Amino acid sequence: MSTSVWDTWLAQRAEQRRGRGTVRTDPVLRSGDAPLLDLASNDYLGLAADPRVVTAAHEALERYGASATASRLVTGTLPVHHDLESALCALTGQPSALVFSTGYAANLGALTALSGQGAQILLDAHAHASLHDAARMSRMPHDTFAHNDPAALEVALRARRGYRVVVAVESIYSVLGDRAPLADLVEVCGSHDALLVVDEAHGIGVAGDGRGLLFELGLVGTPNVVVTATLSKSLGSQGGAVLGTGPIRDHLLNTARPFIFDTGLAPAAAGAALAAAQIVAADESLAASVRTNAATISEICGIRASAGAVQSIPMPTPDAAVAACLELRDRGVLVGCFRPPSVPDGVSRLRVTARADLPSVDVAEAAHLVAEIACHHRGAAA
Ligand SMILES: Cc1ncc(COP(=O)(O)O)c(C=O)c1O
Repeated sequence: MSTSVWDTWLAQRAEQRRGRGTVRTDPVLRSGDAPLLDLASNDYLGLAADPRVVTAAHEALERYGASATASRLVTGTLPVHHDLESALCALTGQPSALVFSTGYAANLGALTALSGQGAQILLDAHAHASLHDAARMSRMPHDTFAHNDPAALEVALRARRGYRVVVAVESIYSVLGDRAPLADLVEVCGSHDALLVVDEAHGIGVAGDGRGLLFELGLVGTPNVVVTATLSKSLGSQGGAVLGTGPIRDHLLNTARPFIFDTGLAPAAAGAALAAAQIVAADESLAASVRTNAATISEICGIRASAGAVQSIPMPTPDAAVAACLELRDRGVLVGCFRPPSVPDGVSRLRVTARADLPSVDVAEAAHLVAEIACHHRGAAA
């Protein structure tokens, strides 16, 4: 049988990945009863398996069925979607919210619907892939500015006078765990009448007693700031949201293609996220526990503490990062392994996530193991 052009192309691409040390796999690491200590997931507050959240998911499933069955604009909007939107507003202090089926879709929806003809998009160089994809999907001119650099943004905005500019940043960055200088970014955007989209995927649940970094900095209610969020990290569920003023919600509901041409968020996910948002709003101690565990990890691993749950340990090569990760897995600890092209600065790293629901002695013990194994593999690669 002759080999098709596609077989050859797929084999070449696989070979390239092997050569670069960037092969990805999707192993099953959590069987439900696995004894591994999970310092890799984004379930920062441990709410994904919280009985209150699981029960709320069951209740929504029983009540509304397994699917929203249609786009939110057809028959897919359920009371639980509106209740969830209200709970997200109560948590973040934002006046209005629109729930999407993922955080990825929320970013696509926000940037494409808010840009359009006559607009340009500027992204922080470390912004999440979904924001970059959104900029591409907008079909409008887009560019990046230096990471966390309001002066560079100012220069880029000055060069775009006369355009409607949408600026997109994260509040706490997903890989390095550093936080954006939001007050300065707000000021720069304000002076150029630019719209600032802040992705709070890693801020909600962690900063501002769980209400997000904009809340912590007293920036909620700032004109021309729109928030995007995911329900799949601190809120332990699935889905995403765009938060802002009523006119912003109305505009997205009418024009955001990832909202219009997508089935509404599954009822169980909406029910779970609703319960989680209420828990986070009522219990500041969750965010405090994440920060305490994060400080323990960074101190023991000898790295600068990040602002978020993610603590990032640089490794000299992709192979050293993978080897450390595998050895940690064998020793009972799951950590993330980030390598190019998924790292904004090209540096491979172990990504260690602090979780609110882990006892501090377990976190400290695991952090010592991470430090020892990271050090060993750094030495081996030297
Ligand atoms: C900063 C950021 N934005 C958006 C997303 C996408 O969220 P979701 O997983 O809900 O699609 C992620 C998830 O990795 C993220 O880290």
